[in-house]
Amino acid sequence: MFDLTGRVALVTGAGQNVGVGIARMLAAQGAAVAVNDIVPERAQETVADIVAAGGRAAGAPFDVTSYDEVVAGVADVTEALGPVDILVNNAGNGGAAGMRPEPFREMDPAGWEGPIRVNLYGVLHCSRAVINGMCERGWGRVITISSGAGTGGVNIGVSPYSAGKGGGISFTRTLALEVAPTGVTANTIALGLMGMPDPKITARLARAIPVGRTGTPADIGAACVWLASDEASWVTAQTIEINGGSITT
Ligand SMILES: NC(=O)c1ccc[n+]([C@@H]2O[C@H](COP(=O)([O-])OP(=O)(O)OC[C@H]3O[C@@H](n4cnc5c(N)ncnc54)[C@H](O)[C@@H]3O)[C@@H](O)[C@H]2O)c1
Repeated sequence: MFDLTGRVALVTGAGQNVGVGIARMLAAQGAAVAVNDIVPERAQETVADIVAAGGRAAGAPFDVTSYDEVVAGVADVTEALGPVDILVNNAGNGGAAGMRPEPFREMDPAGWEGPIRVNLYGVLHCSRAVINGMCERGWGRVITISSGAGTGGVNIGVSPYSAGKGGGISFTRTLALEVAPTGVTANTIALGLMGMPDPKITARLARAIPVGRTGTPADIGAACVWLASDEASWVTAQTIEINGGSITT
């Protein structure tokens, strides 16, 4: 069950944290993984990690906010590993990258573009670069990593991030419906509170989560393995909240 042998996965932003967990879990189930990150050294570390564990991986350093770079990067991945069957749109900011909450009323418009470009345009660029190949081959998986900030918009002070994450959800759902008859599924995972580098902050966050702990990269990787599998072929156009039972994140 959930055997990904013979599949090629592209995981964006897989040089640290959540993306590493996703890349590792997909590789452990047999997928060859293209590890994207805007920081090439980070991508290479994840590749080394996967290869050391007996998996197959190649670095794919490019900036998801540039459509030209994405198209060239996907061409390189295709040459190195084969056409992309599974795309995980994980690159984003917020979360462990740290956000300094700021009320919208005080925001400088110059600060909006960054969160929207990476969290929304990054998803559009990467999806566009792989979707036609998936449809032509009659099999594909697009998995977008979003946030409770995108589903509920309950986080105060991160409105451009919420807008980017919410846009990723509605885009992925629309894409899913457009390609549904082709054997390609598209779903979103909306993460709750993940562990932070500071254990004190992690412990404080955990107190607000019904299961009593923050999320781990492996929690998200496991969900990606399921959504990427043949067994999940009837799961599409969904947003799955993985958050330890939190009602708001
Ligand atoms: N960590 C959390 O608490 C949390 C909660 C909800 C949602 N999320 C989402 O989960 C995803 C992963 O979060 P994380 O905490 O691992 O983030 P992170 O900031 O720790 O890591 C993101 C990685 O993406 C890379 N990246 C950034 N911009 C890029 C670009 N333009 N092109 C290619 N790579 C780029 C970074 O170099 C980094 O290695 C993000 O989409 C984030 O918004 C995280």
